[in-house]
Formats: sequence, structure tokens, C-alpha cells
Amino acid sequence: MNFKKVVLLYSGGLDTSVLLKMIQEKYGAKLITLTVDLGQSDLDLNAAKEKALKLGAEKAFVIDAKKEFAYDYIAKAIKANALYGGVYPLSTALGRPLIAKLAVQLAEQEGADAIAHGCTGKGNDQVRVEVGIACLNSKLKVLAPIRNWNLSRDEEIDYAKAHSIPIPNENKTYSTDENLWGKSTECGILEKPEQEAPADAFRLVTLPEKAPDKAEFVELEFEKGLPIKLNSEKLELHALIAKLNSIAAAHGVGIMEHMEDRIVGLKTREVYECPAAECIIKAHKELEKYVSTIHENQFKPILESKWSYLVYAGLWHDPLVNALNAYMDEANKKVKGKVKLKLYKGSCKVVSLSSPNALYDLNLATYDKASLFDQKASEGFIQLWGLQSKLANEITNANEVG
Ligand code: ARG
Repeated sequence: MNFKKVVLLYSGGLDTSVLLKMIQEKYGAKLITLTVDLGQSDLDLNAAKEKALKLGAEKAFVIDAKKEFAYDYIAKAIKANALYGGVYPLSTALGRPLIAKLAVQLAEQEGADAIAHGCTGKGNDQVRVEVGIACLNSKLKVLAPIRNWNLSRDEEIDYAKAHSIPIPNENKTYSTDENLWGKSTECGILEKPEQEAPADAFRLVTLPEKAPDKAEFVELEFEKGLPIKLNSEKLELHALIAKLNSIAAAHGVGIMEHMEDRIVGLKTREVYECPAAECIIKAHKELEKYVSTIHENQFKPILESKWSYLVYAGLWHDPLVNALNAYMDEANKKVKGKVKLKLYKGSCKVVSLSSPNALYDLNLATYDKASLFDQKASEGFIQLWGLQSKLANEITNANEVG
């Protein structure tokens, strides 16, 4: 394959720094780097830019995409109560289609013919990035050198030494990925599910046993399914998430672990730290139940699990995801109100709810004598409600069916 100009998705770490040099060397291609800020806590944008230019990039772009990430990606996940496998809030999975989109835009703007990424051939991220690119501009070529050249870390270090690439002081015990919606940690000792995940696998969230002995309450106010205020302070979504991340992390909230089924057939033991995501989804789910009918409440989770799977599996641009988003928007129109959460040593509990749209009427619900609920009406209801079940049992017994 021949490449004239390549956009490289660049984090500034060892893998992508080695790629920066190798792609120039092997293909004689001009290189442009793209570093996207999605809220990773340890990202030094200026350092990444300088390093890229030093290693021969023609141009180095850094884009702050936190706001777009919050409103166009995380917001949809909140409305869908997205949890893959019932556990994982999809933090990494939500970031990839946005990175792919920004890379395609940059490739088009700069006249590049290919996009290169540093994903391995075993993970989900390669699928998300490449399907994302293909859905937005199928003419662009994709280069996945880590997958194709099967580089080991030792080979990378040798190459880096030979080409004066600074070797960052990265802690490589684990493979991690981080953004506003959470941090994922895998590999190393975590590959042995028979052993408990060690304390050093958790870097963002205080371990619950070390969290304060005093509970903290936070109040989230929702409008059309999205949190707009934190403790009565109006905040943009990305700012609200960042603030809630630090409050909840201090109380040990947001640690999730599970056995995950990857798109590529592998099972993997994953550790996540998603403090704001845990609080927001818990609060949102409970508020939604309060304002929705029993039928809506039974039906939506079926769509939510489909949504979560499709997004996990890199199909952000599938028409079914768009259609599901339309349903989620419709269902969330009435999701308005306040939710109070209690954070205490790793637990996050909804402790109170209020909403102008609640399908709850104290005059009906109360057990006081003054209740407007007509208890006598239940008698006829029960007769009709159980009619078919009653008949089925009578017939089974009479005819000795079964
Ligand atoms: N298993 C998670 C997912 O598929 C996390 C992936 C983390 N990526 C990484 N490069 N460490 O979304």
C-alpha cells in the first residue's frame, strides 16, 4: 500500500510515538498527528504537540472535544441508561466514534489519504475506529501498524532508543483508557480472574475502605433526561460530569468490575472507574421510573440493552442506533426533576426524588382513610385479571394435562 499523507491518532505515549517515526520511515509518508482531549486527567496537550513536531510530524493538531463528547455522545448514553453487560457505562466505546469523526474531518481538511491508529488486533477499539471511519468516508485508507506488525513492547523500546524517541515514564502494569465518562483498566494481573484485582488497578477512585466515614449527599436536577444542575449549581454537561467525578471518586463510588464479552470473541476481565456515570445513570433511571408508565418502564430496558450492545460493538452509525436514539429522546422529554444521592464508602444510593411529571399521586397512594383510591374496585379487577390463569389451572387439573 502507498500513502501520501497520513493522519495519526496520537496520544503522546510510546506506542503512537514509535508509529509516528515508523510510518514516515516505511512509507515515506507525510504525517499529521491528531490528539483529542476527551477529559483524560493525565493528558498534556502541549507536550503531545511538541513531541509530535519533534518526531517529524508536518503538523500536530490538538482538539478539545469535551463539550461535543458530553452533549453528542455521553448525553445519548445517559438517555439510554447505557450499561454494557449491565455494568460498563461504555466510556471508551463512546469516545471512539468521536475520535474517528474528528480524524476524518482532519484528513479531508488536510488532503490526507489515510488514517493510522495504535489499536491492537485483539481489542474493540480497532473495530470502533475503523467502522467509524468507513461510515463517514469510505475512501480513506486505514493503517493499523500495531496490529499488522505485531510489535512487542521490547521491540518498541529498542526502536525508540535507536531513533531517539523519548521513552515516557509510563506505568505499564496495565492497559488503560480514560475520558470524562470513566477509566478502563485491563491486562497484567487482571488477566487472571481467579485473583482479586489489586489496589493499584484503581487510580481514579479512592478505595471504598479508605473513603471518609461521613456520607455526602448530592442533588442532581434533570431536564429532558439530562442533568443540568449539581447541588443547585447550573453547569454545562461536561463541567457537571467533571465535578461529580471528583466528588463521587472521593467516596469510593464508581468502581465496576466484570467479565466482558468483546466483539472479537474474547472474554476479558475488566475494571472500570466511572464515578459520575454511576451516579448519573442511577439517578436518571430512578427518575425515569417515577415519570413513566409501567409499560414504558418494562419496554425501555430491552431497547437500552440493544443500544448498549450496538455502541459497544462499534456500530454508532448504524441506522438502528439512530432510530433507538429517537425513541430515547421521546421517552426522555418528561424526565424532569430532582434526585438526591447518598455517597458513602463505595455506595451510591438514590434517597429522594421529586418531579412535576411524577405519575404518583399521594391522594391515591396514601394508606390514610382519606385516600381517593377505591379499594372496592379491586375486587372486580382481581376476578378479571386472574381469569385466564384460573381457567388454565382448572383445565389442567380436570384433564390431567402435564
Ligand atoms: N473493554 C473496554 C471497551 O472495550 C475498554 C477498552 C480499553 N481500551 C484500551 N485501549 N485500554 O470499551
